[in-house]
Formats: sequence, structure tokens, C-alpha cells
Amino acid sequence: MKGVVLAGGRATRLRPLTKVTNKHLLPIYDQPLIYYPLQAMARAGVRDVLVITNPEHAGHFIQLLGSGRDFGLQLAYELQEEAGGLAQAVSLAESFVGQEKMLVLLGDNIFTHDLRPSVERFSAQERGAVIFGVEMEHPEHYGVIEMEGERVVGIEEKPTAPRSNLVQTGIYMYDERVWTHLQGLEPSARGELEITDLNNIYVSDGTMRCETLRGYWIDAGTSHDELLAANVAVAELRSRGEI
Ligand code: G1P
Repeated sequence: MKGVVLAGGRATRLRPLTKVTNKHLLPIYDQPLIYYPLQAMARAGVRDVLVITNPEHAGHFIQLLGSGRDFGLQLAYELQEEAGGLAQAVSLAESFVGQEKMLVLLGDNIFTHDLRPSVERFSAQERGAVIFGVEMEHPEHYGVIEMEGERVVGIEEKPTAPRSNLVQTGIYMYDERVWTHLQGLEPSARGELEITDLNNIYVSDGTMRCETLRGYWIDAGTSHDELLAANVAVAELRSRGEI
């Protein structure tokens, strides 16, 4: 299994903090934000990881992370030259991942859950995709998952009237059919290729599974308040040795 960490974007919601830098380089307690998903990759046992970022800040990522040796990873880098959305960023990983399966992490997600058992289960299964759900009080800020029993029946991106409290985190696993699925995507109303549209293709063919993410999770990059909450939470988790 190959790993892909998405660390591009312009992060306009976090201005002026992101006027001259990339949000994934901002501090979360004692480490830059990007460290957390990279540590999660290492914890999951996925060693070959592609970091996708924008050209303006790629040099800083290379300076900060280097070969990845300090994380126990082998890092490669790819440039996302336009802000074309998360699914467009995923498509840039095709030559790196090839016909293997992949674990995609959004570079601003911090979580304590150990993905290793899920990675092993997905490696052993023939095909499909996996999303990881958590219950949130304000699901309208995320991709909202609708389930019927164990079955995922749909995912709606930031709906005004959410059908459940279950949201998709920035953790995804795909089989090699992802490259074909990506080719069929059309830009959304905001002009981007959406990860939710990609996931819904797997939902339609009945091969999308949803696993429950346990422990702490936050999408630290959505607002100044979430960034602050992530700092406080990580400080507490660190003091208890939980992250
Ligand atoms: C993205 C996805 C959304 C998901 C979220 C999790 O949203 O589009 O479905 O719930 O990540 O972190 P964004 O944070 O890019 O707005």
C-alpha cells in the first residue's frame, strides 16, 4: 500500500496566517501540522508516502521533512500547480501509486486512531474503498455520510440539511480503479474536483465501506477556532502520552 498526504491549497479561511506560508506548516502545539498525518502514516505501517503541495511552498516542505527518515518514512514530493480541489490533487499521485492500493490523508487532519488494522484489512480485500466516519455536533461543515445498516448509501458535501451526524474524515483508502473514476469527475459549483464525488462513485457501485474512527479527531485547517482547539487538544493529549 502506498501513502498520499495532501498539503496544497490556499487556505483562505486561515488568512492572514496563511498569507506567506502553507497552512500545513503552521504550529500545532509543539510540531508543524503536517507532522501529525505523517506520524499517522508511519503508525499505520505505510512507508512510501507522496506529499502533494503547491509550488510556492514546496521548498519549505522539503527543508522541513527531507527524505522522511526522521519519521521512518520514504518521502516523495509532487506539485499541485492549481487549486483544483482534493480529488484533482489525488489524481497527481497516479504515477507514484500505480496499480497498488493507497491510503490518502488530508494534511490538516489530526487523529489518535491507529489505522494499521484497517490498512491490513483493506490490503487483503479484493477491491473497493473505505472512508472513516465520526459523529459531529455540526455535520454541515463536512461531508455527511448516510448509512442504511452497515451500507453507505450516500455522502453529501456540506449539506444545509444534514441527513445524519456522521461525517467523513480526511482519511480515505482506494483501490486502483480510482484512476478511472477520477477521469469521470466534473468540477463542482465551486469549480473543484470534489473528493466526495469520487467517494460517491464507489458508493454507487456498492464497494464503499465506512469504518468508525475512534479516539480524538480534528480537521485543524477549517478555521482559526479549529486551529486553536487543535493546539489545546494536542497539548492535553501529549501530557497524557496519547499522541
Ligand atoms: C474536506 C472534505 C469533507 C471532509 C473534510 C474532513 O473538507 O471535502 O468531505 O468531511 O475534508 O476533514 P474541507 O476541510 O476541505 O472543506
